[in-house]
Amino acid sequence: MTPAPLKVAVLASGRGSNLAALIAARDAGTLPVEFVLVGSDKASAGALRLAEDAGIPTLALNPKGYPDRPAFDRELFARIAASGAELLVLAGFMRVIDGAALAPWAGRIVNIHPSLLPKYRGLHTHRRALEAGDTEHGASVHFVTAELDGGPLIAQARIVVRPGDDENSLAARLLPLEHRLLPAAVALLAARRLALGDAGVLLDGRPLRAPLQLGEHGLQ
Ligand code: GAR
Repeated sequence: MTPAPLKVAVLASGRGSNLAALIAARDAGTLPVEFVLVGSDKASAGALRLAEDAGIPTLALNPKGYPDRPAFDRELFARIAASGAELLVLAGFMRVIDGAALAPWAGRIVNIHPSLLPKYRGLHTHRRALEAGDTEHGASVHFVTAELDGGPLIAQARIVVRPGDDENSLAARLLPLEHRLLPAAVALLAARRLALGDAGVLLDGRPLRAPLQLGEHGLQ
């Protein structure tokens, strides 16, 4: 029996191109999910306009309206829970999230990060890969834990760093791969094939020894 579409909430702080890729995959029939909420910490985020255009409920919460991070995250995550979401996808959400808010979502929250984690947690990943002289760069999808960009890895996409590359050229070459990587990883979650166990990621009930890699025909 085909499982019911997974109810998904997405958090995004910026333009929302990864959100757009998720919506496009849903529309193409390759991602059996129902988007129940798109939330942002920025009322001006392009992601919110994309969601409105797609008929997805939106939420903009301004962190300045809260005394501290835990208070903001408590409200945000209460609203996400109220949406009925079963999975929360961070698609360019640029805030650190309080551990207490994350705890009930263990195994049900994933993030896309523009580096080959565990390299370059945090910001300015393209610049740091160039400064380090890396010959390879990429993006990762991982389960989110209280350790910033440190949760168990699910899948990665790789690009070669070329002579003459700068931050912009790396970002431009990586982004289209992110747009395939994130929907493919979320599709595995929607198919209930991925889980977070005590010892790490499980795929079809078996430990995932290394992150899946995005190839020409999807994740392998
Ligand atoms: C993406 O490149 C994503 O990997 C990155 O932000 C961008 C969002 O673009 N995420 C992070 O840096 C998270 N730390 P988008 O708004 O067009 O999807």
